[in-house]
Amino acid sequence: MNTVQSEHKNAAGRIVFLTIMLCIGYAVLRYHILGPVEWKDFPFLILNKGISLAALVLLVLNFSLGPLNNIGIPVADSWLSARKILGMTGFLLVLIHALMSFMLFKPEIFGKLFEADGSLTLFGGLSMLGGILSFVVLWGYNLSFQTHLRDEKAFIRFITSRKFLLLAMLLSAIHLFFMGFKGWLSPSGWHGGLPPISLVAFVFFMTGYVANLFGRK
Ligand code: HEM
Repeated sequence: MNTVQSEHKNAAGRIVFLTIMLCIGYAVLRYHILGPVEWKDFPFLILNKGISLAALVLLVLNFSLGPLNNIGIPVADSWLSARKILGMTGFLLVLIHALMSFMLFKPEIFGKLFEADGSLTLFGGLSMLGGILSFVVLWGYNLSFQTHLRDEKAFIRFITSRKFLLLAMLLSAIHLFFMGFKGWLSPSGWHGGLPPISLVAFVFFMTGYVANLFGRK
C-alpha cells in the first residue's frame, strides 16, 4: 500500500459511528425501555443524554489512546491516527449538548439541581461551572490547532502541556460528579438496574485520566 493510502486508513468513521449508536442506545434502553420516560421526550431530553455521553467517550479516547500506548497497552495504528477526528467530533457533540442543555435547563426538568425558590443548589452551580469551563477549555485547545495560531509558540506550549491538560480534564469530572453523585449512591433507584449516564461517563473518564497520569509525556 502506498503512503498516501496508509495515511488515510484510520478507524475514525467506525469508532464515531459505533460510539454514537451505543451511547444513544444506552440512553434509550435506560430511560425509555427500562425507565418511565415517554417517547415524546426522545428527540431532545434523551437524545441530549446520549449525545453528551458520546461526546465524552470520543474526547476521552482522543486524550487517552496515546498515553495508553505509552504505558504498554498496544493501540492499533488505525486508532492512533483517528485521534484528531475523534477529538473534533467530540467537541462538536459537546457543542450540540451545550446548546440543547441551555434550552432544557429548568427546575421543572432538573429539579435535583435547583432549590425550591428557583436558584441553583451548590452542587448544581458547581456542576454547571465545571461544564462551561470545560467547554471553553476544549474550545481553546481546538484553537491551538488552527494554522494561524501555530506561530504563537508560548500559547501552544501552554495549552498542550501535560500539566494544563491534566488540570483541564478535571473540569469535566467536576461537571459529572456534582451533577450525579447523589444518584450514584442509590442503586435501588436506577432504571432497570442500569447505572446513570453520568456515572458511566465518570468511570470512563477516570480510566482515561489514570492512563494520562501515567502515560502522558
Ligand atoms: C456549556 C457547557 C455545558 C453545559 C451547559 C452542560 C449542561 C449539562 C446538563 C444540564 C446536563 C444534565 C443533562 C441531563 O441529565 O439530561 C449535563 C449532563 C452531562 N454532560 Fe454536560 N454540559 C456542558 C458541558 C459538558 C462537557 C464539556 C461534557 C463532556 C466533556 C459534558 C458531558 C456531560 C455528560 C456525560 C452528562 C451526563 C448526562 C446524564 O447523566 O444524563 N457536558 N450537562
